[in-house]
Amino acid sequence: MKHASLMAAAVAGFAASMMVAAAPVQADAAKAFKKNRCAQCHTVSGKHTIGPSLKGVIGRKAGTAEGFKASRYSASMIAAGEKGLVWDAKSLDGYLTNPKKFLQDYLDDPKATTKMAYPGLKKEDQRALIFEYLNGVK
Ligand code: HEC
Repeated sequence: MKHASLMAAAVAGFAASMMVAAAPVQADAAKAFKKNRCAQCHTVSGKHTIGPSLKGVIGRKAGTAEGFKASRYSASMIAAGEKGLVWDAKSLDGYLTNPKKFLQDYLDDPKATTKMAYPGLKKEDQRALIFEYLNGVK
């Protein structure tokens, strides 16, 4: 009997430590979104500010946030969406590394540009955290 309750306590303790372990990852991801300035221009609430809301952006076609006028996107972003660009781990990583160059390569057009005034995020771990964060805001 004593053994069984010890086991139960151990299992409960293990489950609790797993939950605690998961929380900092989300917190770090949210921090990465703020620390790297994304939150200055983007919400994840559905509200559009300088940039389109990034709620549900993963899995969405580029340049198609509902309620963000097409004219507020760059012509290049609209063209990339029409060419088939969908935001996923790989495309987001490429865009965040160097936004303008990513669109130029994607469209095979050296004149392509983006309205996102952001030079790019060189730190791979930060880009990965931001993907985790955005993938969690459906
Ligand atoms: C100075 C403002 C600004 C900052 C900072 C910024 N963005 Fe943007 N972002 C924009 C604008 C404006 C657009 C529209 C770009 C276009 O149409 O070319 C955009 C577009 C995007 C898109 C494509 C959205 C869609 O609907 O297709 C993603 C994804 C994105 N930003 C993510 C980020 C992330 C992640 C960060 C932080 C690392 C960030 N942005 C930082 C302004 C900003």
